[in-house]
Amino acid sequence: MDGDSQRRTETERSGAVEPSTALAYLDPHYWDQRFAHEEHYEWFKDYSHFRHLIQQHVHPNSSVLELGCGNSQLCEELYKDGVTDITCTDLSAVAVERMQKRLLSKGYKEIKVLEADMLDLPFSNESFDVVIEKGTMDVLFVDSGDPWNPRPATVDKAMAMLRGVHRVLKPDGIFISIAFGQPHFRHPLFNALEFTWSIEWNTFGDGFHYFFYILKRGRRSSESNGLIERVNTTSISLFHDELESEDYIFRMNIDEVENQT
Ligand SMILES: C[S@@+](CC[C@H](N)C(=O)[O-])C[C@H]1O[C@@H](n2cnc3c(N)ncnc32)[C@H](O)[C@@H]1O
Repeated sequence: MDGDSQRRTETERSGAVEPSTALAYLDPHYWDQRFAHEEHYEWFKDYSHFRHLIQQHVHPNSSVLELGCGNSQLCEELYKDGVTDITCTDLSAVAVERMQKRLLSKGYKEIKVLEADMLDLPFSNESFDVVIEKGTMDVLFVDSGDPWNPRPATVDKAMAMLRGVHRVLKPDGIFISIAFGQPHFRHPLFNALEFTWSIEWNTFGDGFHYFFYILKRGRRSSESNGLIERVNTTSISLFHDELESEDYIFRMNIDEVENQT
């Protein structure tokens, strides 16, 4: 079976709705339609692949805000690991409604689920110990044009998101961003002078590596100013099959860029 056929089969099996263009990811109607039919889809990798990284930063008493939860099981997995103060958000009203029902049916009553735009977060300053997103920030970049020199509109949106995250984090809070976007593209945004966080990253995954960014508010030092540091944590390889899924659309963008350089 060729790659495309395999991808189609996987997509049919998971019930996912593959858009004809990645630009659909910027359209809230796309997500509403998709979540109306799709039970569960895990972008990039599931929790088992990065649990060892999460556990270094998220503790049972952490208050956690998840941005763009979709129909991922990330919040359930955190809950099973003892984290009970979780607020899931998504722009899609359908995702929120279905997530609420799913969590209630499983007895996870304490997890809050709210409709919210990550570009305009409806939370007070300094309310969370941890803000986490997986694949949600990447959505902002699907029409960025040249990733070395993204369109001003893309930069504005990414900065609005980051400002909101920085604002709602407690003074020593941590932003965890799980992404396709590589350090050399994310660094200029994360490193804007208005932010007080330090920036570190790690990778996980088998054949293709995903990025796990850790931004610690209040930890920017003059020595680390301008640096983005790779953390030297032993990477574990679980040898799961690579997910063959529509996240390849993000990946194609990266491959295209790499081929041009
Ligand atoms: C690529 S999916 C990732 C879903 C989930 N985090 C996962 O790991 O499987 C992107 C998610 O972001 C949501 N989203 C897109 N734009 C958003 C925005 N401005 N604010 C909040 N959520 C948004 C979509 O509805 C979708 O659920």
